[in-house]
Amino acid sequence: MKNFYITTPIYYVNAKPHLGHAYTTIVADSLSRFHKTLGDNTMFLTGTDEHGDKIVKAAEKQGVSPKEFVDGISGLFQQLWPHLGIENDAFVRTTDEDHKARVQRFLQQVYDAGDIYFGEFGGHYCYGCERFYTEKELENGLCPQHLTKPEFISEKNYFFRMSKYLPWLREYIESHPDFIRPERYRNEVLSMLESGALEDLCISRPKSRLTWGIELPFDKDYVCYVWFDALLNYISALGYLNDKYDDFDRYWPADVHMVAKDIMRFHAIIWPAMLMALDLPLPKHLAVHGWITFNGQKMSKSIGNVVDPLVLGERYGADAIRYHILREMALGADSSFSNEIMINRINADLANDLGNLVSRTVAMAEKYFGGTLPECREADEELDASLIDPALELRDKVATYMDQTQLNNALAEIFKVISRANKYIDETTPWILGKDESRKARLASVLYNLLEVIRITTTLLSCFMPTSMPKAWAQIGATENLITYENAAKFGVLPANVTVHKGDALFPRIDTDKEIDELNALIKAQMEKAIAAQQPKAEVPGV
Ligand code: MSP
Repeated sequence: MKNFYITTPIYYVNAKPHLGHAYTTIVADSLSRFHKTLGDNTMFLTGTDEHGDKIVKAAEKQGVSPKEFVDGISGLFQQLWPHLGIENDAFVRTTDEDHKARVQRFLQQVYDAGDIYFGEFGGHYCYGCERFYTEKELENGLCPQHLTKPEFISEKNYFFRMSKYLPWLREYIESHPDFIRPERYRNEVLSMLESGALEDLCISRPKSRLTWGIELPFDKDYVCYVWFDALLNYISALGYLNDKYDDFDRYWPADVHMVAKDIMRFHAIIWPAMLMALDLPLPKHLAVHGWITFNGQKMSKSIGNVVDPLVLGERYGADAIRYHILREMALGADSSFSNEIMINRINADLANDLGNLVSRTVAMAEKYFGGTLPECREADEELDASLIDPALELRDKVATYMDQTQLNNALAEIFKVISRANKYIDETTPWILGKDESRKARLASVLYNLLEVIRITTTLLSCFMPTSMPKAWAQIGATENLITYENAAKFGVLPANVTVHKGDALFPRIDTDKEIDELNALIKAQMEKAIAAQQPKAEVPGV
């Protein structure tokens, strides 16, 4: 059996989860579910990143201890995921005792090997990024992410000999073109490596400045730099540097780390160098995605332009939200969130194309055959092949896109076949066949072909929309044993005398005018609240 290990970044717990976090987690969940249907031994890890300056500041603002604060927000992330149909296999918190102990053992190991040294350092520290920038990395003296002036801090610290591993890493990235995808990010990393701007990495913070972190095992006056601790979650959660090696042996190296572009550098440079220092293989792929933006800016808690995925999920159902953001985002590119586009897409693709296909087909099987198809058949070979052939080719096309982390393209392929099926109804005119007793065999063939195409497409859609597809299977009379990946490339799987069962609409149509206004007002109110909590003086972005 093949193993498949996929991770999301572990999210900062300085504020509530928003749609941006949900996006990454939904992509990872869909890929994980896809590999589960392939029969792979799958591990999907997500979690929360709980140390560092940002947390201390956020806790202070609320007048609670950092521990109380992180427990609260980490809980919000954990509670949110099931509401979005997310089924992670493990959840790691960097304040877990196991994680902390493993990070300390790792630090000791690298220290003993001579890859950590003590030195004096002055650097430009950005509190937003929680990292030092070198002079060359700044843009006009400002942090390139936050466009704020970093503070110059000079102090004695511990350093990881990262520069020692960089020439090797450059060669590795050059000889493994698929390590960082899409390609533009690979090129970005290569130019960072070529620029010479990268130096050894400062991996400690003196306790005089920050106590909320993992203590260095070789110097109790220092805690570990939050990113060094956080990146290790990907192996600490598997039991690395502990007695439990099972999961680590099975799952490492990870198949895919999902990350957004702003944290690519940590995953494409620092993390590989850390793994090299540990003499461990690198993850197979880094899938780098763009941002969900709102009014042209990254959706982010520090700006306050955040949309609560829970509110959307409660209004339209988790599957509709999952579908919308997966279909809208091309890996690597930004995508702007808009209520209008979301509602129109749910109506057009889910309520109309897919929902109507299922309800019309089931309704016709009931109307003309009392719900159970007769076994007689009459083919129209050319016309039927124009529906069946693309359906049979679909599974492998979807698999190729999933393998390349192009979920939007996988969905587009599935919806092409769904559109073809709707057209097939128009071309075969079952309502005319139904009036003519001598055409019953043809009508039975048409409906059977449609039911089979629904079975194939909904099987392939179930990793993206796990809650509603079983409802479609119940309607088309597909028992659970027939819903397999293998059967998704076969025709003639449903019994010839299949019985359908009319059910509720899979995706009720949304009243566009009413909803867009209501949702706009709701989101605006939420953003005002988020902005009031973050930046009291900022303007509310127009919705
Ligand atoms: N804690 C670090 C990651 C450590 S991983 C070892 C961190 N946390 S974060 O809370 O800022 O979340 C980062 C991740 O959330 C991004 O990499 C991305 O996956 C997701 N997103 C946050 N905002 C996003 C958008 N606006 N759009 C898309 N994804 C976004 O960085």
